[in-house]
Amino acid sequence: MPPVDKPITSPDFARFKSEGRKIAVLTAYDYTMARLLDEANVDCLLVGDTLGMVVQGHDTTLRVTLDQMIYHLEMVARGTKRALVVGDLPFGSYQVSIEQAMLSATRFLKETQCGAVKVEGGRRMAATVHALVEAGIPVMGHVGLTPQSVRSLGGFKVQRDEEAILADALAIDEAGAFAIVLECIPSELAAKISSQVQAATIGIGAGVGCDGQVLVTPDLLGLFQGFRPKFVRRYSDLGTEVRKAAAAFVADVQSGNFPNPSESFR
Ligand code: KIV
Repeated sequence: MPPVDKPITSPDFARFKSEGRKIAVLTAYDYTMARLLDEANVDCLLVGDTLGMVVQGHDTTLRVTLDQMIYHLEMVARGTKRALVVGDLPFGSYQVSIEQAMLSATRFLKETQCGAVKVEGGRRMAATVHALVEAGIPVMGHVGLTPQSVRSLGGFKVQRDEEAILADALAIDEAGAFAIVLECIPSELAAKISSQVQAATIGIGAGVGCDGQVLVTPDLLGLFQGFRPKFVRRYSDLGTEVRKAAAAFVADVQSGNFPNPSESFR
């Protein structure tokens, strides 16, 4: 599929879906990585609240704040020319009321160059998604395993209540989301949802029948050394490369082999 040469916007997702052009989404948290991923023609960079786990080192996403998300969103947007940048509203920044969601989402759009926001939750978030969309804020939904609800779900587990998950996806679609992340649900259910909703579905642990796929970039690159879910495909082993490079630097410093004359000023 030829890459798109102009900046991707949220309405493009509907076109990609209707053309059967699969959508590639990765997470990003800083300028340098955003530039590399954008240059590799990734369609959408999600500044996810996985920030709390893969950058901050917490065991859930719950501690991430709105100000931290804005700090990282700004850096990612600055490094991105083509991909749609989506900002994940963190836990506690939109569940209190529609007004709170509106204030948080408008901060994302006013203080950064992001093109859309993401919220977790199905039927219970439908009125909020509708209000945001009505206010001109493109929304990516997220149903199935919603990590901000990890305490009530009892852990990061595959979600199998097919009736509830379908109802959640249909409610968010009806509310006007341009895309919906389907996380950790059976593949057949994800394919069924994808065929019933207008929004583009973006799967993570949801099989190949989605309109696109997302992975957490440090997982894909083999940089994150913590728990590795079954759905993660490692495309590289940068963790090993980083350790090797750092160990070689240590050895060169200790032996006096770094810096050499060509790396020094006269
Ligand atoms: O926060 C995140 O990175 C996400 C993706 C895993 C979809 O929500």
